Amino acid sequence: MATGHSAESHKITRLAQKNNEDDFHHPTEKIAQLEEIKSIICEDILEVFGGQGNLTKWYQEIGTVTTLTKETTGDSFEYIYKLRSEKRKFNWIDIDSYGYPDRLFPVIFELMKDECGLVFTFPQVGVNCHNGISQQHFSTFYCNPTPTIGNVVGKITDWALREWMLASLVDVKKIKRIYRIVFMCKRVKATDMTNVRNR
Ligand SMILES: C[S@@+](CC[C@H](N)C(=O)[O-])C[C@H]1O[C@@H](n2cnc3c(N)ncnc32)[C@H](O)[C@@H]1O
Repeated sequence: MATGHSAESHKITRLAQKNNEDDFHHPTEKIAQLEEIKSIICEDILEVFGGQGNLTKWYQEIGTVTTLTKETTGDSFEYIYKLRSEKRKFNWIDIDSYGYPDRLFPVIFELMKDECGLVFTFPQVGVNCHNGISQQHFSTFYCNPTPTIGNVVGKITDWALREWMLASLVDVKKIKRIYRIVFMCKRVKATDMTNVRNR
């Protein structure tokens, strides 16, 4: 089957990523942000929508990295359910889809150890063609057709609570037309969180 223009340009980008010649996905800026918070990143790392380029290599310097790419593990939206069925747990999760990370929520919180950092890429509203479909998507996930960072932080906090995890915002960086948003999540006993004492 003949491949279309976008499939061909995608192949070129993927090759550049592997050869560390990619600046389209801003690995330098992402790494600069991670360098600032390096002290909270620890060994069991999951990269969702990974690129096996500089960012993956940077993580490999820190610890064991499970990198999900379309070529190796297939569609990340499906593969995370395999990780969940294997009861895999991580203490740092990086979600780097340039579209919407939202379909990974809230399941991603089930892949977290008791303490786990979460960094994800969120598109600047309007980058993904702001049509009826994306408006409905944002309304469904963030109760707002044009979500603010505050809306996103609020929803992440709620989704984390489903797993009895408290999510604290650590950093937000705008890199060109994306945001990289970092949280630290900590599991809290349900009884402590709700101030209930079992008799
Ligand atoms: C924005 S890039 C980021 C790559 C890497 N983190 C970096 O900074 O170099 C996202 C990657 O996810 C891949 N991808 C796209 N859709 C995917 C899917 N459904 N499942 C897994 N990977 C996907 C793309 O091929 C692309 O390499």
